[in-house]
Amino acid sequence: MYNMLMTRAKHNILVFSRMAEDFARHLERIKGDLHIHTARRSGDIDIPLEEVDILVSWLIRAELIAKMKNLKWIHSLGAGVDVFFREPESIRDIPLTRTIANLPALITQYVLGHILADNIGIEQHRQNQLKKNWEWLPFNDINSKTVLIVGTGEIGRRIGATLKHFDVATTGISRSGRQVEGIDTCYEFSHWNAAASWADYLVITLPLTKETQNLIGKAELGAINPEAMLINVGRGKVIDEAALISRLRSGKIRKAVLDVFHEEPLPSDNPLWSLPNVVITPHVAAVTDLKLSAAEFAVNYERFINGENLLNLVDKARGY
Ligand code: OXD
Repeated sequence: MYNMLMTRAKHNILVFSRMAEDFARHLERIKGDLHIHTARRSGDIDIPLEEVDILVSWLIRAELIAKMKNLKWIHSLGAGVDVFFREPESIRDIPLTRTIANLPALITQYVLGHILADNIGIEQHRQNQLKKNWEWLPFNDINSKTVLIVGTGEIGRRIGATLKHFDVATTGISRSGRQVEGIDTCYEFSHWNAAASWADYLVITLPLTKETQNLIGKAELGAINPEAMLINVGRGKVIDEAALISRLRSGKIRKAVLDVFHEEPLPSDNPLWSLPNVVITPHVAAVTDLKLSAAEFAVNYERFINGENLLNLVDKARGY
């Protein structure tokens, strides 16, 4: 009863994001004693930080969170929550949930688009067109290819399940090596060398944690099939960027499609910009659909006020 009285109290939600107003507009449908505050930057915050009960954000400085002394729940507007672990003491023992919404579907479209374009040879045909060059290029059936999915969470599994529609052989690699739906066979990371040397495409979907930082270093990059294309839609810092540049420069990895980097925006003097076998996109593989994300939040808000376990809860010990 005490719990009910406590949780049914008025809740101040602070939505802190450059998309704050758009997200908040969707929250208006939620019934309840909810006071929604929006801010794009710290100067816009119109509520004393110690009165914030629920924080909805993605990129926010730890020192602001640390001042929210009565915070009861943090909801990440992104799937990746590494930003919140830069200074883990700021999030204390507050439950942290993350967005799933449309993100696995969107990242899958990005990955499939690049794999199919590469397999069809879209870029080479375009280059030939510019030279008025009528050249027949082989178009292999994608079902003769093998894709290694690195990280077998919601995103990796959705990519695997979608590739199955093209009869592509998929291998997954993860910390536990647990078999998951959507991917043919999964291995522990200790089997990296065999899996990477076999794959035609490697898709990195790993979150950034203490364990995954620079996990794919010089030795791991050295084990990759030189004919393979590497796609990184996880986090830049899971790959040793200098070692990757060196492998790409010497052609020891055929091609890379990179959406995430050690430093974002990618500095103009970073050599990746001018490597001919690299495709760079500015962290666009997943953009949160605010309506779907708000609907996901609304379900969790109901669970929150009923004192139930929250969905999409981040495991603080693992960092994702
Ligand atoms: C995310 C991202 O974490 O876009 O959602 O990278």
